[in-house]
Amino acid sequence: MIFTIGHTKGGVGKTVVTVNLAAALALQGKSVYLVDGDRQASSFYAMQARRQEEIDPTIDYDNEPDGKKLAALVESKAKNYDHVLIDVGGRDSSALRAALVVSDLLLIPFAPRSLDVWAMADIDELINEARKINPKLKAKAVINGADAVGNDNKAALDVVAQYPNIEYLDAPIGRRKSFASSIGYGQSVLEHKPKDRKAIAEVTRLLNIVFA
Ligand SMILES: Nc1ncnc2c1ncn2[C@@H]1O[C@H](COP(=O)(O)OP(=O)(O)OP(=O)(O)O)[C@@H](O)[C@H]1O
Ligand SMILES: [Mg+2]
Repeated sequence: MIFTIGHTKGGVGKTVVTVNLAAALALQGKSVYLVDGDRQASSFYAMQARRQEEIDPTIDYDNEPDGKKLAALVESKAKNYDHVLIDVGGRDSSALRAALVVSDLLLIPFAPRSLDVWAMADIDELINEARKINPKLKAKAVINGADAVGNDNKAALDVVAQYPNIEYLDAPIGRRKSFASSIGYGQSVLEHKPKDRKAIAEVTRLLNIVFA
């Protein structure tokens, strides 16, 4: 499956979700290829750290911010891997648009705060554009950085419901130290020590729901 973890909004946790899903899939024995389509290359650097730390299982990775080249790279490599994950920068870019055209699923991390929820209109428009060329594209929004599961999350869900293109994925990821510290080693919270049981449960749930 080819995933894009994307949003036109910055800092919503795209890179955190990408690295955690990539490592979680690799831990299940899947072959995983991670393409960072962001010039800032955060997940590329995270994967470099993973390689330097010699963390098993290994994950192959590249950085390609140019949309055309990114699409060509994904199309040439996808057959060699069980899963391809594309992390893209937090703005409308050629990489994001190209990624949506080659992906099966767009995962949209967002924070349950009003500005983040309103920003959904921009990505909704890009989904519409991409579906003209790639009708199979699914789009699912997932809360990241929830302080606690509560009213904010419910309000966010109501807003997402206004976008028929976007399905709400009921697997909120909390704001936890483990997510911020593990990424520096290119690790998922499943691998990072000290283990954070709640973070592990959240990533496991996300993975299960994505493949349900
Ligand atoms: N669930 C979380 N718990 C704790 N910290 C988090 C969580 N998600 C993200 N962060 C932190 O918030 C910051 C932004 O996250 P991240 O880099 O994943 O966002 P992004 O959407 O990829 O940003 P950009 O648009 O710049 O690519 C990082 O410092 C990251 O460590
Ligand atoms: Mg990022």
